[in-house]
Amino acid sequence: MKKDYEKQIQKLLKKMTLEEKVGQLQQCGPSLVGAFEVSFEELLDMMFDGRISQEEFDKLMGTAEQDFHEEDLRAGRVGSYNGIGDADTVNRLQKIAVEETRLGIPLLFGYDVIHGFRTVTPIPLAESCAWEPALWEKTARVAAEEATAAGVHLTFAPMVDVAKDARWGRVSEGAGEDALLNSAYGAAKVKGFQGDDLAKEDAMAACVKHFVAYGAGEAGRDYNRVDMSMQRLWEEYMPPYQACIEAGARAVMPAFNDLNGVPCTVNSWLLRDVLREKWQFDGLVISDSNAIAECVAHGIAADKREAAKQAVIAGMDMDMSSNSYIEHLKELVESSEVEETVLDEAVGDVLRIKFELGLFDNPYRTDKEREQRTMLKPEYRALAREAAGKSIVLLKNENSILPLASGTRIGVFGSLAADKGQMTGAWAIGANPDDCVSLTEALEARKISYRYSADSADMQKTAEESDVLVAVLGEMKEESGEAASRAEITLPPEQLAMVRELAATGKPVIAVLFNGRPLAISQLDKTVPAIVEAWHLGVEAGNAVLDVLLGDVNPSGKLTTTFPAATGQCPMYYAHTNTGRPGGKSKFTSKYLDAPVEPLYPFGYGLSYTSYSYKELSIAKLEGALGVTVTVRNTGEKAGDEIVQCYVQTPAAKRVRPVRELKAFAKVTLKPGEEKAVTLKIPYDSLGYYDWDMKWTPYEGKLKVYAGGNVKDTIEGEIQLS
Ligand code: BGC
Repeated sequence: MKKDYEKQIQKLLKKMTLEEKVGQLQQCGPSLVGAFEVSFEELLDMMFDGRISQEEFDKLMGTAEQDFHEEDLRAGRVGSYNGIGDADTVNRLQKIAVEETRLGIPLLFGYDVIHGFRTVTPIPLAESCAWEPALWEKTARVAAEEATAAGVHLTFAPMVDVAKDARWGRVSEGAGEDALLNSAYGAAKVKGFQGDDLAKEDAMAACVKHFVAYGAGEAGRDYNRVDMSMQRLWEEYMPPYQACIEAGARAVMPAFNDLNGVPCTVNSWLLRDVLREKWQFDGLVISDSNAIAECVAHGIAADKREAAKQAVIAGMDMDMSSNSYIEHLKELVESSEVEETVLDEAVGDVLRIKFELGLFDNPYRTDKEREQRTMLKPEYRALAREAAGKSIVLLKNENSILPLASGTRIGVFGSLAADKGQMTGAWAIGANPDDCVSLTEALEARKISYRYSADSADMQKTAEESDVLVAVLGEMKEESGEAASRAEITLPPEQLAMVRELAATGKPVIAVLFNGRPLAISQLDKTVPAIVEAWHLGVEAGNAVLDVLLGDVNPSGKLTTTFPAATGQCPMYYAHTNTGRPGGKSKFTSKYLDAPVEPLYPFGYGLSYTSYSYKELSIAKLEGALGVTVTVRNTGEKAGDEIVQCYVQTPAAKRVRPVRELKAFAKVTLKPGEEKAVTLKIPYDSLGYYDWDMKWTPYEGKLKVYAGGNVKDTIEGEIQLS
């Protein structure tokens, strides 16, 4: 039950000076200071553009110290910190806030806990391929237990940006291209992070991001403009954010991008009309990093002062890292350009989440002892391994070459096979690379006969002495995540050359892919008989991949993102609309001359070591929902989990609508030969859409319904809705 803190908030507001109010809206991170001749940001640039080497950079960093802005803190000019994840530092700073500031208002500590804190679990894109809300919630719970033990109060997660363009590096951070999946994923994460009472010491507030449509940046380039119809926005991009708010998320982070010309950071329609009025959200709105100041670069504010004014008026409560509020807000209120009531509302939102987290009663929610005993518990690692196993998608398995028979001599190739530090993927800032298990370590630990070759020198020899060749390929963790868009999403030429060389030996080659986005792997697909999509799986990566290679785990993951056949097809996604000339054989249809019409692997796709068949689809009109029942049978020889998917098409709508839309899914466990009738419910509401005038319109007419193991491979039925 949500408690009402309004009286306490108003009481406190009355005691606060203008400076203290503005201070509550200031979030900063520790700055690095050292014996550098240039700023830290410039140093980073120097490393990225090669003016200094990684080693030189690391050496300089060795001299760096963190500046926590303690003078500002004492003066009441800091309300929150970002990026501090250790109990001692958190408690030390909290003590200053509580004991040395005039009003003793506790600090709020935020952190990017995206896919685990110390026990790093699969990247969100990977974990979404498990299609299992209960699992998503459990891994979020573990993340919260660890992160709160390290002093974190608020995580900048979940990210529920529907992402249809594989070139965007941040596809790794969300649940793929579908609104329904992102909604289910986000809601489960919110519940897992927050638990049932935010005041509990192991509850962590969730900050839903990036509001809104950050995943729709033009051409997949990070931070890029988003210009789309309101119909599309509300049907395809809004639902996951709303689902997270309905699940109780207590914070929201507006996105970097502009929406139809107005940056989300200063978009009062978004932050006031939609979020506050329509959705009745009364939590904290916190800017993305430096985003308020960046409104100047957007070209919508003349300077930081103007940006601060626009942002606070639009409903942005807290300023992450840009110092725009701390520098200008007091004066803006004094000059009556911003009403004090507007400022008070923002401060009230900050105080409210602090009350809800119980910080006024218990500002020190953890200590070193709890931190030490909480990290990487054996049961956390076991869950990480289960999640990793369920995230793996078997893309190809000709002649059932997998699983490997015991006694098979395995040759392993590619540097990613032994690079444990790479297993975490993007955004794992609380991680310790030493915690991760690489594939070669997993083989070692299980005493499996293998030979490993990281370079071409002994490749031939290794191949000769092996029965199967496992080529470990993909992307480095830095190649996905923020600011990691790619114009070409194929495998690097040297990896493809290695695969060709291995294939030329005549031995079967199994490709294992570690990557943070869909890749255009048509060439690989033509060259090898088996492909295991392992993504970036976290601390248990090596063990989970080996579980699948050896058949201890029967793969069940299904793609939540389409794999294009060529980069030029991007954005490629299943829920597209048809043109008047859908892509086909004849020339004058919607397609490219030099790429197929279809993707390489469709949405929802993934193989198993067993097989399934679908029959007897029936549709019933139930109270509030359609009931779609389908019988699924395990037609193979191994027990397995099948992810049953249900799609619809609305051919009689008054607007052109997607060829198929996912409306429900379920995971069923089936023994060999077993069959089950599965009933999936599709709420009537979810079949509606926005008409030309943005009026929500219930769907009437013939509805086509599809059920199957992926979007392309379905049986179908239809029903008349009136
Ligand atoms: C990212 C956010 C993240 C924030 C705080 C930004 O650069 O866009 O997703 O939460 O940094 O670290």
